[in-house]
Parts: sequence; structure tokens; C-alpha cells
Amino acid sequence: MTQTLTLRRPDDWHLHFRDGDTMRAVVPHTARQFARAIVMPNLSPPVTTSALAAAYRDRITAAVPEGIDFTPLMTAYLTDQSDPDDLVAGFADGVLTAAKLYPAGATTNSAHGVTDVANISGVLERMAQIGMPLCVHGEVTHSDIDIFDREAVFIDRILAPLIERLPELKVVFEHITTRQAVEFVDASGANIGATITPQHLHINRNDILVGGIRPHMYCLPVAKREEHRLALREAATGGSTKYFLGTDSAPHHRHDKESDCGCAGIFNAPHALESYITVFEEEGALDRFEAFASENGPKFYGLPLNEGEIMLEKVAQQVPATVNGGAAEIVPFHAGETLSWQLAS
Ligand code: NCD
Ligand code: ZN
Ligand code: ZN
Repeated sequence: MTQTLTLRRPDDWHLHFRDGDTMRAVVPHTARQFARAIVMPNLSPPVTTSALAAAYRDRITAAVPEGIDFTPLMTAYLTDQSDPDDLVAGFADGVLTAAKLYPAGATTNSAHGVTDVANISGVLERMAQIGMPLCVHGEVTHSDIDIFDREAVFIDRILAPLIERLPELKVVFEHITTRQAVEFVDASGANIGATITPQHLHINRNDILVGGIRPHMYCLPVAKREEHRLALREAATGGSTKYFLGTDSAPHHRHDKESDCGCAGIFNAPHALESYITVFEEEGALDRFEAFASENGPKFYGLPLNEGEIMLEKVAQQVPATVNGGAAEIVPFHAGETLSWQLAS
């Protein structure tokens, strides 16, 4: 008999949908698997206000295939000029679920990001008062800091002092990639959680660089040494409620990745659940997958758990080499590999 795993409908607590044709091509992959997703605001130009977030939400909703029940949860991109009243009103209205801190220059479309957290201290104080979560891309950007050290240095220089100053602030440390981040989250209060991507559970930096440079394995924060991947696997599968599913699915067209200056971001939406469940199975933790995928995130955000269930079956499937990305094709995570699980339709 085929092995199966049934779980409460899951959510994706961090992803990128882009806009226009690309958005219309990628949204169905996520809507097929997840009930809700936290949508990152790093469009060009970025989604900086409640009004822009509401309009973007409506464009996403229009891209959801007929008959599928999927809710995008919107975030606002913080800048040095963010208006606290607008963000507070957007959170109160339910238009905004969180606000996103991109240190200026840290990642894709972060040029308008925050140049110094001191510039948004008023915004962060208001967010702490009303319980609005702050999602954080946790890397410093100084040219003198090695790219493999940027997350750990961010903890010491920015995140730890910020939480000390605003101990009530709810913070999601997004797409963590290091043992130091796991240790920091474990040692923090219940108001500090973290998302973990499938790629950071599967690959280390050798997968990017050994035997040739692999642009489709490149994302930010960049995958680190093996010891860090093992710490992340332990965090995701170990039963702590502070860690939850956030794919960081980040579609870039093939020619933008396979380039002289290739974009950061891995498109994992088409087989996200199958990618994660492989890790939980390898770690002997299938019984903990539901909490990671469907419970810890909503509990952290203070949102209801989803009704309904999905089923994963142990049936092998081959991941295609490319998928439709609107104007051009996109190479998905695990392209060409065989995954041993499949989402039952
Ligand atoms: C993301 C993107 O492409 O928007 N890229 C990435 O490498 N993760 C941005 C981000 O989440 O940092
Ligand atoms: Zn990021
Ligand atoms: Zn991201």
C-alpha cells in the first residue's frame, strides 16, 4: 500500500510572487498547495503603503485559478520614510499582516530599503505596541563583511540590540541559514520566530560551487557550510514551535539567473511541500511536519489554523527542467531530479 501523510492545510509564511505575467504564471503553483502565503513586497517599485498592498493583493487574487481558495497575506516594504500611521491603519484594517525590513542593498530590489534601523525606530515602536509582526531579511551589507558572515554579524549588530530595545516586538527572522541564527532564535522569547526554506535544508555552499558554478542554487542569504545546514534541519524537524515553513520562492527568469551577474533567488513553489517532506522523512520526523507546515506559523502570527486537509503520497515524480514563467521560462528547484513524494490532487 502507498504510504500517505494527511495534514491540516499548510501556509507559506514567506514568498515572492512578482507582478504581471510572471505573477500569473507562478501564483497557481502556490495556491494549489497552500491556503495562505505571506507575500513579500519587493516589487519594482516596492509595495510601501497600505494602498499599494491592497491593489497588489487584488492583482494576486485575480491570478488564483477558479475554484481554489487561497488568501494572500500582504506586507509593506519599510523605507527610511515609512509612515507609521499608514502602517498601523493598514494592520488594523487587515490589509497588512506584517511589515518587512530590507537593509538597503541586502538582496533583490532592496535599494529602497532601510539605511539604518534608527531611521524607523518610531515605526517599530508603534508596531511593537499593536503587535504587528516585523519580517526581517537578516544580513548586514557593509562591503568589509564577508558574504558568508553577513547573517551572523546582523544578529550581533542589529537584531539583538533591536530586540533588547523593543522586547515586545514580534520578529520573524526570515530564511535563516546559520547555526548562529538557530541559537539566537532558540534563546529568544516566544515573540521571535523564524522561517526556514527548503533549499537551506537541502543544499550547502558546495552545491553552489563544486564542479562548476550553479546559478539556480544561488539565493540570499547564500547557503553556508554543512554544519549550518545540519543545524537548520535540527531546528525545522526538532519540534520547536518557533520555526515554520517559509519557502522564499523567488522566481527569476532563466536568462536573468544564467547571466554574467545572476540574480539571487530560487524558485521552489512548484514542489515546495514535496521538497520539505523529503527532509522530514530523512530526519525520521514525519510526525512533526504538520506542526512546521500548518500550525507554528498561524500561532506565531495570531491567525486561525486552516480548516481542511491535504494528502501527500509516497509516489515518485520527476521535476521538470523548466516551468512557464510568463515572458520566459524559469528553472525550478530540484529541476530534473526525482522526488519521492507527491501532493494528491
Ligand atoms: C529574493 C528575491 O529574489 O526577491 N531573493 C533571494 O535570494 N532570497 C529576495 C529575498 O528574499 O532576499
Ligand atoms: Zn530576503
Ligand atoms: Zn524572500
